[in-house]
Amino acid sequence: MKIFLDTAEVAEIRRAAEAGLIDGVTTNPSLVAKVAGDRDPKELYREICEVVQGPVSAEVVGIDRDTMIEEGRKLAALHEHIVVKLPLTEAGLKACRTLVSEGIRTNVTLCFSVSQALLAAKAGATYVSPFVGRIDDISGEGMQLIHQIRQVYDNYGYDTEILAASLRHPTHVVESMLIGADCATIPPKVLWQLSKHPLTDRGLEQFLADWASLGAEI
Ligand code: E4P
Repeated sequence: MKIFLDTAEVAEIRRAAEAGLIDGVTTNPSLVAKVAGDRDPKELYREICEVVQGPVSAEVVGIDRDTMIEEGRKLAALHEHIVVKLPLTEAGLKACRTLVSEGIRTNVTLCFSVSQALLAAKAGATYVSPFVGRIDDISGEGMQLIHQIRQVYDNYGYDTEILAASLRHPTHVVESMLIGADCATIPPKVLWQLSKHPLTDRGLEQFLADWASLGAEI
């Protein structure tokens, strides 16, 4: 499963990319607004694209089809790593179809139902982003959506990749893997949580103490 970092914080992206642990980055307007300050977001996208050797999702903010197409073309022209993120609306699906026909990769986002995911595939999306955590937030079963989309895409051979999004903790990541999501996008905190286990810490402490008793060097 591919792991994308869900952030616009360059330092965090660099830390994970230098460790060779991420396959790409996803951003959204809220994540960009948190870090951009006075900076031109286009510059920020370019910098992120230089740091990570993989797809970088950058989202349009227009709400009609033509504006989305225009913004999508501009975003795609910024860097070869850019994947244009479009909302799962009628206009977003139409813009997706046009951008895909021009060879631009797309990520159809804000997906909350299997019927929406079907239309994202029909529109030729490269990725669809079902938001697991936000469904859990309203007492739904976010992971059930990943299951259903996997089944529908497999039943009919759609090659749109399932990019499990709005993942809030390691269990979300593990469940996404077990279901067979193609990608998971996770905040930096969750990436590093994946490496933690108390038995690893305890085991290492014991190994080091036993080795120290030898008074030897490697
Ligand atoms: C995905 O593309 C989104 O940026 C993100 O996963 C949303 O997560 P949130 O629901 O925690 O804001």
